[in-house]
Parts: sequence; C-alpha cells; structure tokens
Amino acid sequence: MCGIVGYVGRKDIGSVLLDGLRRLEYRGYDSAGLAVVEASQLRIVRAVGKLSNLESLVRRRPVSGGAGLGHTRWATHGRPSEANAHPHADCARRLAVVHNGIIENFVSLKAELSATGHRFRSETDTEVAAHLIEERLRELEAEGGAREPGAALLEAVRRALSQVRGAYALAVVWAGAPGVIVAAKTASPLVLGLGEGETFLASDVPAFLKHTRKAVFLEDGELALVGPEGARFLRLDGRAVSKEPAVVEWDHNLAEKAGYRHFMLKETHEQPQAIENTLRNRLLPLHDGVLEREAGMPPGLIASIKGVHIVACGTAYHAGIVGKYLLERFARMPAQVETASEFRYREPLIDPATLVVAISQSGETADTIAAIQLAKQAGAKVLSICNTVGSTVTRSADFNFYTHCGPECGVASTKAFIGQLAALNVLALHLAASLGRLPDAEGMAWVEELSRMPDLIRETLKLDAQVLDLARYYAQAEHFIFIGRTVNYPTAIEGALKLKEISYIHAEGYPAGEMKHGPLALVDETMPVLAIATRSAVFEKILSNMEEAKARGGRLIALCTKGEARLTGKADHVLELPAVSEHLSPIVNIIPLQLLAYHIADLRGCDVDQPRNLAKSVTVE
Ligand code: AGP
Repeated sequence: MCGIVGYVGRKDIGSVLLDGLRRLEYRGYDSAGLAVVEASQLRIVRAVGKLSNLESLVRRRPVSGGAGLGHTRWATHGRPSEANAHPHADCARRLAVVHNGIIENFVSLKAELSATGHRFRSETDTEVAAHLIEERLRELEAEGGAREPGAALLEAVRRALSQVRGAYALAVVWAGAPGVIVAAKTASPLVLGLGEGETFLASDVPAFLKHTRKAVFLEDGELALVGPEGARFLRLDGRAVSKEPAVVEWDHNLAEKAGYRHFMLKETHEQPQAIENTLRNRLLPLHDGVLEREAGMPPGLIASIKGVHIVACGTAYHAGIVGKYLLERFARMPAQVETASEFRYREPLIDPATLVVAISQSGETADTIAAIQLAKQAGAKVLSICNTVGSTVTRSADFNFYTHCGPECGVASTKAFIGQLAALNVLALHLAASLGRLPDAEGMAWVEELSRMPDLIRETLKLDAQVLDLARYYAQAEHFIFIGRTVNYPTAIEGALKLKEISYIHAEGYPAGEMKHGPLALVDETMPVLAIATRSAVFEKILSNMEEAKARGGRLIALCTKGEARLTGKADHVLELPAVSEHLSPIVNIIPLQLLAYHIADLRGCDVDQPRNLAKSVTVE
C-alpha cells in the first residue's frame, strides 16, 4: 500500500505535494519522491527512507510548476532504494508515473519493451508503466490526427493500461502536456479533490482535506484527465463517464483511518483486500513453480526438503501452528513450529535438508532475526513470510514470500495474520503439488475455496453488530478462556492474545482437550469460555468440552457453522459463521475474535491502537 498525491493549480506545488505525502505517511514510508512539470521540463526528486529526507532535498532546491505528483512507497517489487523510489520515468525522461498496486504481468511487458530498446533503471513493476505509456505516445504520434496534448496523454495511458493485468492507482505527468495529470484506478483507491481553480489527487482524502472537502472517488476501470478546473472521466473501453462530487464530512483524524475510529478496526475490515493481495497470481497453475516465481526458491530445492521448521513470535507464531497442520496434512511434510525466542537458545536439530520458515509482519523482530541466523549457521535454507519488503528478516533469509497486506499500524496484528495464513496455504498447496502428494482434484478444490476467502471474510465481518452486543455483555469480565481443537487450537490462542493485549483482560487459549487436565478448575459462573465449534472432524469432541464447562457454570460463547442445530441449548451466545473446510476455517474464525477483542477494549476505554507496554515491532529481545 503506497501513498499517491497530485496537484494542478497555482499554489506552491512543492509544499502542497509534501504536505499531502506527510498526511499519507501511514500508507508506506520506505522511500518518497515527487515529479513536477516546470516550463515544459520534467523534474523528479526522490529520496530513500523517511519523507523528511525528501523534504530536505526540496528545501535545498525548491520545485515549481503547474502540475505535479508525489509518492510515498511501501515496497512490493524491488527493495527500498532511490532507484526503486517513485516517480518512475520513461527513457526520454519526459513523463513520470506514480503507482500504488501490483502489475502482475510486468515481467512479460518488461521483456517486450526491452526487446524494442527500452532501458530500465529500476527493479519495480511500476517503471514498466512509464515505458508502456511512452510507447503508446509514440504510436499516437505515428498515427497523426492532432490531439491536444492532454487528450493524447489520456489516450496513451488508456491504451497502455489495456495491456496491464493487476491492481493500480496510477497517475502520470508529461512534459509534453504541462498543467495536466492523467490518473487511472483499478483495485487500489484514488480520489480527486475539487478546489477553486485547482484540483488535487490522492490515495486517501486526508492528503487534501485541508484544501477542499469536495471529492470525486474513481471507480475500477476509470481514468481521469485532471486540470485546474476539474476533470473529465473515461472508462478503459473509451466511453466517457460523468461523475458527481461528494462532500467528505470526516475530520483529518477519521479520514486517516478511512472513517474508522482506530487503525485496528480499519485493518480488520481491510482483510478481504489483504488476502486478495496475498493470493493474487499465486494459486495457479499447481505444477508450474509458483514458489520459484513468487519466493525465488530454486527448482530442485523442494525435492531436497526433508522437514520444515517454522519460527516466529506472537501472532506470527500462531499462524505458524496452522502452517504446521497444513504442511503435515497435505504435503505429508514433517513440520515443527516454535517461538523464535525458544528456538534461538537451544540446539535445534536442523540441517541442510531442513527448510526453516520465518514468519514476521514487521521483519524486524529481534528473536526471529536471531533464529534465522542460527538456522543459516546450521546450513538450513530460510524462507521468510513477511509483510515488509527490504526488512532485516527479508535481507537475512534466502527466499522471501511477501504477504503484500500493506502497512499494519495497529499494534494488535490482524490483516497480517490473515496474510500469513494465506501464504502458508500457498506454501503447503504448492509443496504438496510439487511433491506429488496432492491429487489435482483436491488441489483445485483448495484453490477454488481460497479464491472465495475474500467474500467469506466480508460475509463474516457482517457479524460486527452482533459481536458488539456480545462485547457489551462481557466487557467487564476479568478472565477469559478460549478453546479450540486441531487447526483451531491456534485460532483460540490467537483470539486470547488479541483480547489480552488490547483490553488487558487475563485471557488464555487452550487445546480444548486439555481442559480436564487443569484449566477446568478455573471454570465457574464468572468465567466466560469461548469455544470454536465450527464444522470439523472433532466437532463432537469440542461439544463435550463445552458441556463440561457449562456443567460447571461457565458462561459459554460458541462459534459455529451457520445452520448447526446441535449447539442448541449448549451455549449462552452463538455466533454463526459461513461454512468453510476445516483447514481453512482459522481464516474465517479469527474474524469475530478480532472484533470481540476490539469492541471489549474500546468499551473499556483502552488505547486500542497503542496498548500499554507494547510496541508494534519488538526489535529488542
Ligand atoms: C500481535 O498482535 C502482536 N502485535 C505481536 O505478538 C506480534 O505478532 C509479534 O511481536 C511478532 O511481530 P512480527 O510479526 O512483526 O515479527
């Protein structure tokens, strides 16, 4: 998730663009840049690292001009560097592009463009768009038929994007068309701000809210030719579109969270998009080296793996437990999972035939980094599942599978967890297929169900109001027990972690079968017990665990599969979830637990996004 800003008008363009980027910094911050058209010359200024680095460059040599773009980057393709920072230019350095999203077919497009003489300066997918538009402008010129420059740029961008597959919010300036911007949107947000004699462009409204509240939100497949007096709109098929402005009521603080009161709630509701980004272009074909293409694992490595050892901390560790189930059940691959803080201080039995999988959202967790170093000293290959390109984990690992969930600002991890689960499904699916341990029919069924996960999460998020009622009922609880079995045991401990870390309620997660071995002694009428009782091979077992707790006065909350009649009378509160296969159920089952933790913490007046004693990234041990 990156931040894009654009401006056409008479204000000091450098200040407007930098101020807009500052207000979008939560969307990504590993490099930043801007491009302006000054007297028909294109000027690009870029800096790696924090936005302040760009600001000092612009302060030293101010920019001017009637149209310009800015970008703050959350790297997806290509590590954070000045060369990979946006904006990206064409060969002639006459046009500049900023982009938020992923161009899935950039490798093939880049090869075609290189073959016709285009020279690339970066590792990014975005730069391909700049050269593609340059090529289409050249084509339009050859066709003759004088178009005013802005219309020519609009048509060139439209034709170029017709060749692109993937997600983009994209904006272009061209020295040949001073005073205009062309913008386009598919799957990533882009909004215009309409001022008096000036027009703004941004990924989110906070970038221009101080200038205007009149906004026009672009829809998928739409393009805009933006000038100081507003914009005209087109669809990718060339048809003109008329669009009505809306008035944004949010204040800046709310706008930064897209209208949600907290980043955690925003990120919980971003999970459908997050899992879409993680899975994009990574499910099919089953036997064609997705892991080689997407994680850089060399052909032949998979056949040499005799065991997997997963290391991670906190929520990422809980995802790893799910990963263990998936790898052993489908790939028949022996898999261990361990907190990195334990792994790093013992003599683990790993060797060159072990694939160590290090899971981390931030990529800066000290224990996980140390675990990677220990693994490499033992000769093991290390694959990271990480959300942060260019982080220490990804620079230490041998191969990297990025979750592409965008920056996660809330300390309590939500969308990153869903991205980790999705990535572990992809790993298990393709390991199993590559090793010939997964019948194609089973593999295709798994792919089909994974493809439906965004909609299943959307459907589950509709439980929010019901969960809020539940939160009101339990907000003053002093303890909570979460229980689950097999692949939902990690869901139970993750649900407990969510609750304890933001509401400060003492919450524990247990394998449901463990209750009789001690925890049942805790259960009385003051103890809420949340049971994950969705459809599974062990449903009857969890049902009896619920009866044990109920019999001792426990206050039972049950997650069950929609239409499940066997729970009647067994629980005080029931949340019905959409039916999914057992091995995929943690992806759906964790949603109400995230929402329950959020609402209880909010009702208790806790600082949901920055809970006491905790940091978003534990960079010290
Ligand atoms: C989860 O909600 C916590 N914020 C914490 O447990 C976190 O998952 C853990 O610190 C690991 O962080 P990482 O994924 O960035 O390595």
